Amino acid sequence: MDIVVSGIRSTGNLHLGNYFGALRNFIRMQDENKCFFFIADIHSLTTHPDPKSLHANVKNVLVDYLAAGIDPEKSIIYLQSDIPEIAELYLYLNMHAYLGELAKTTSFKEKARKQPDNINAGLLTYPTLMAADIIIHHADKVPVGKDQEQHLEMTRRFARRFNNFYGVEYFKEPVAYNFGQELIKIPGLDGSGKMGKSEGNAIYLSDEPKVIEKKVKQALTDSGPKEFNSPKPDYIENLFTIMNVVSEPEVVQHYEELWNKCEIRYSDMKKQLAEDIIKVTSPIRKRILEIEKDDTYLHKVTTEGAEKARESASKTLKEVRQIMGFQPF
Ligand code: TYM
Repeated sequence: MDIVVSGIRSTGNLHLGNYFGALRNFIRMQDENKCFFFIADIHSLTTHPDPKSLHANVKNVLVDYLAAGIDPEKSIIYLQSDIPEIAELYLYLNMHAYLGELAKTTSFKEKARKQPDNINAGLLTYPTLMAADIIIHHADKVPVGKDQEQHLEMTRRFARRFNNFYGVEYFKEPVAYNFGQELIKIPGLDGSGKMGKSEGNAIYLSDEPKVIEKKVKQALTDSGPKEFNSPKPDYIENLFTIMNVVSEPEVVQHYEELWNKCEIRYSDMKKQLAEDIIKVTSPIRKRILEIEKDDTYLHKVTTEGAEKARESASKTLKEVRQIMGFQPF
């Protein structure tokens, strides 16, 4: 049985990118693996959220997890901030993480560009915290989307470096996982590269069907192809990419053929796409509306999850401290 660890930052509701890049695989993996799924609330602090909205954001992700089908009977569900051992391991890993490599990370460079007034040390050391999240439970597999590939490479490097420095075979080197397939990247509806919570281009699992229809209708298109079998511009390719994950293969094939024959009608394609997205999101949305009312259940899931996650994390920390040379008098 493999150990699986993954998390999502509590920075808003979850969207189709989170679902197809990560969450759907969490659910598919929970029967055959030992799974740890958490809410990365400490990671969300890099963007300085208002304390008044922090808890609501954590709740959104927790409710979305449960509504999408993560089962607390099968998986360990917890908040990152409930496991102080993660912060301790992060501290130790930082002693072996270097400014040059951290500053070169793509996500750091992007964030530094987006928030030039708040380039804090937490942003810089984001990958070491993520490594701590993962290796604290000795993960084998980490289900994530394409944008996390580099962070996983760094996790492996930090694990290897710890082992080499202390001369032990202690931490495993976990891999980013999507059932042997390329990691997924869901594009935005605005022709941009990636669907993101902060990009204003996302379809959320909690969106009402009418909202989804409207968002899809507004997706960027043009007057259609002028020549048979012409290459698609990025914003049209994006619609096909989303269709590929939500629609039946015959449907995608049908629209590909229409494209190639210059007979595509975007209004029809968008109607079909909206319908197929709603097929995925509407059962989840229904459960979100039920689960979000049940604070007793949410309390139970997170306290039991934290207890189990701490059991695993504190065992690791005890061993790590020993390896590093900390000794009681
Ligand atoms: P976050 O919160 O940005 O995203 C959570 C997960 O959703 C995936 N994802 C996408 N996949 C495909 N297409 C998209 N447009 C898209 N947008 C988001 C992400 O790849 C991710 O899997 N650093 C992580 C959170 C984290 C973590 C960890 C993950 C903290 N510690 C340990 C795994 C293991 C993050 O920012 O995810």
